Amino acid sequence: MKLFNFLKKGNSKKKDEAPVKADEAPVKAPAKKSSKKKVEKKLIQIWKPRPVDIEKFFPGDEIIVSKTDKNGNIIYGNELFIYMAGYTETELLGQPHNIIRHPDMPQLIFKALWDTISQGKEINAYVVNLAKDGRYYWVFANVTPSFNDEGNIIAYHSVRRKPNPRALEIIIPFYKELRRAESVGGMHESTKELVKLLESQKMSYEELVLHLQYKI
Ligand SMILES: Cc1cc2nc3c(=O)[nH]c(=O)nc-3n(C[C@H](O)[C@H](O)[C@H](O)COP(=O)(O)O)c2cc1C
Repeated sequence: MKLFNFLKKGNSKKKDEAPVKADEAPVKAPAKKSSKKKVEKKLIQIWKPRPVDIEKFFPGDEIIVSKTDKNGNIIYGNELFIYMAGYTETELLGQPHNIIRHPDMPQLIFKALWDTISQGKEINAYVVNLAKDGRYYWVFANVTPSFNDEGNIIAYHSVRRKPNPRALEIIIPFYKELRRAESVGGMHESTKELVKLLESQKMSYEELVLHLQYKI
């Protein structure tokens, strides 16, 4: 089965190894801890939790923080990030950040995120995340690049706050519309929807999300 291909990798016979007769087959040593860990990490990437329609709450005065390398692999998470994601710190570190991606998120928002931060700029976005137990939690995320002394991007940093509930009343149906557009015509169609909204509001994307978070 394709799903398990990666498990066979380490076991494949080297090219010039002599064939082993059945009665000479060596007793297999138990898998080393490190390779067991690697398998566990791969499994976490493959087996995405099934979303359930139950919210996971966090206190409004606390912030959820994570950092990634340039490729979006998690290199740090604060206690609240780990708690909300529902994985252990060991399970999370090194994983692509999409480990907590919720299927209700339109792809366009992540495209906007990566296009913006890879150009060295910050972005704010409403994001619904998926915890390990399938619960969801909405955040208002600020994502920024970190630079080295030469001005090159070396990592990314995200700070998430509780979203304004009134903003979510607008964002939830709008994201639904974006996903519908994506299912019909991909990101080309969802981009059109976003442009339509921004034009009707006479705001840029950044102005709109900040307005929704702090001014309504
Ligand atoms: C610093 C940082 C934080 C991120 N935080 C999240 C997050 O909380 N939830 C999420 O789904 N994606 C987050 N992403 C975006 C993911 O890297 C990824 O683009 C997204 O989950 C979509 O994954 P996919 O393209 O595999 O569908 C973050 C990226 C960066 C760089």
